[in-house]
Amino acid sequence: METKFLSQADLQEAVDLLNSGELVAFPTETVYGLGADATNEIAVKKVYQAKGRPSDNPLIVTVSDEAMMREYANQVTSDAKKLIDQYWPGPLTILLPVKNNSLPSAVTGGLSTVAFRNPADNLTRELIAKLQKPIVGPSANTSTKPSPTTANHVKHDLDGKIAAIMDNGPTKVGLESTIIDLTVDPYVVLRPGQISASELADFLGKEVQINQGKISTDTIPKAPGMKYRHYAPSAQVIIVDNENDFTEITDADDIAVVALDQVLQDNSFRNYFSLGTDIVSASHNLFDALRFFDNQKEIKTIYVQGFKNGDLAPAYMNRLEKSAAGKHFA
Ligand code: TXA
Ligand code: MG
Repeated sequence: METKFLSQADLQEAVDLLNSGELVAFPTETVYGLGADATNEIAVKKVYQAKGRPSDNPLIVTVSDEAMMREYANQVTSDAKKLIDQYWPGPLTILLPVKNNSLPSAVTGGLSTVAFRNPADNLTRELIAKLQKPIVGPSANTSTKPSPTTANHVKHDLDGKIAAIMDNGPTKVGLESTIIDLTVDPYVVLRPGQISASELADFLGKEVQINQGKISTDTIPKAPGMKYRHYAPSAQVIIVDNENDFTEITDADDIAVVALDQVLQDNSFRNYFSLGTDIVSASHNLFDALRFFDNQKEIKTIYVQGFKNGDLAPAYMNRLEKSAAGKHFA
């Protein structure tokens, strides 16, 4: 199949494709998603196939507004309502109990909860509103690879496997949404993102636990997806926590360095990719950098700068730890 690029003017074509059970990748403020009609089981199954994703890893359900979510969610508590009013549309995904039989089990992976997301991208919200049904929205990458932050990243991974890609330019945040589980007490952040657990705790005036340590193991069935290999280019990624350690890396044809401008100015490497000036630009650029060197087969090791400070540091390091399988420069 030929994969088309679509834009604002082609919205109706995208709606028609989704209605006929085809896959359409869509932009969000975090990363690009892979869309299918969430109420069409056959279409949803194609998403797992196109991504090469294990079928027990549930899919996020992307809605155009709160009213659409309420058709599929149970127990929309006052805290859920508060979070929606404050953060939607935006990079916060909330886990709620699913209404019985309102969605195919291919979406939920057989769980009794669903992760709902309302992205801050007008084109995508308009698409879903016109469709009048939610779309599933995993990141639009081949399973195990870094999430796509441009339409071209999507094309690289899924060309020929999906009907279309809606292009709305590079994404803004660059890391996937924060996921908060509201079905447990205390609430738990299952995946850190731009909106931090401490911000959510302050806002709700309640304890919010962080579960990123636990969900990276196989033991917690709550988030089965978290147990799989993730964000991994073919080369070995090594995290460099201390800026000064870049001076100890010996430059070579088969190594690459991903770091802030300042580090790249102070050291000289033949293969490099800039993370920009701070943790915000670094979060925006991380997946692009990993993909850039993944396409250069001669690169065997990628040294990537780590960050300890800044609101985005936990989210950034969560992705980087996974792509490096925990390997740090020592
Ligand atoms: O920013 C984002 O959230 C992006 C954009 C495209 O919206 N989407 C995204 O989807 O990152 P995905 O599938 O790549 O990551 C969602 C994660 C998966 O690890 C999945 O296992 C978990 O959320 N998840 C989905 N539904 C769940 C559920 N009911 N319970 C626990 N974890 C769930
Ligand atoms: Mg993903």
